[in-house]
Amino acid sequence: MSESEADDRDRWPQRDRRSGNERRTQRERRSAAAGPPAAENERRHADRRGGHERRDERAWQPVLIDTAPLDGFSPEEGLLAAARTAREFAQAPYSKFKVGAALETVDGVIVTGCNIENATYGLTLCAERVALVKALSEGHTVFTRVAVVADTGSPTPPCGPCRQLLWEYCGDVEILLGNLRSLTGRYRLSSLLPLPFDRRLL
Ligand code: THU
Repeated sequence: MSESEADDRDRWPQRDRRSGNERRTQRERRSAAAGPPAAENERRHADRRGGHERRDERAWQPVLIDTAPLDGFSPEEGLLAAARTAREFAQAPYSKFKVGAALETVDGVIVTGCNIENATYGLTLCAERVALVKALSEGHTVFTRVAVVADTGSPTPPCGPCRQLLWEYCGDVEILLGNLRSLTGRYRLSSLLPLPFDRRLL
């Protein structure tokens, strides 16, 4: 694989999930060599915005961090542990389904959240969104991983609206799913939200 193809694959990971006759056409390959196909859209989009300051583009890229265990304690265990602790504060009298979330920032700060239900049901806030709005409101803008914990054998993935919001503000982060004992799943957000609607389309 050429360097530009590898680079392109990193920037546009959803392409690699195409299969068979959906694989790239020659035209797509040519334009990929010249730059990502969305680049032109992105430029026009920026023009239309009249040069107004936009959110930092780097927040849309996966951020690589050192995940080597430190004194036998892996950062992912720490993130899951934080989500488990947050889950204890869940306000879930209606569903009785407690969820905890922990968001890791690029600086290594962990911001947690739990689900907060309401008698109207519809106003329920998911744990992920609580963690996200807390983090954003405290000035954090670049995130590396999100852990979601529930007391279930199988993984509890973020709901659709949470995926949309995580994509908007965290980009293609790693999603760690866990229960009270262990890690039960590990995903890239792009694999949970393969064809996102986002500002590149506006
Ligand atoms: N819930 C979350 O907090 N996060 C998820 O990823 C799935 C669902 C909450 C919302 C509601 O309070 C309860 O779980 C049952 O849906």
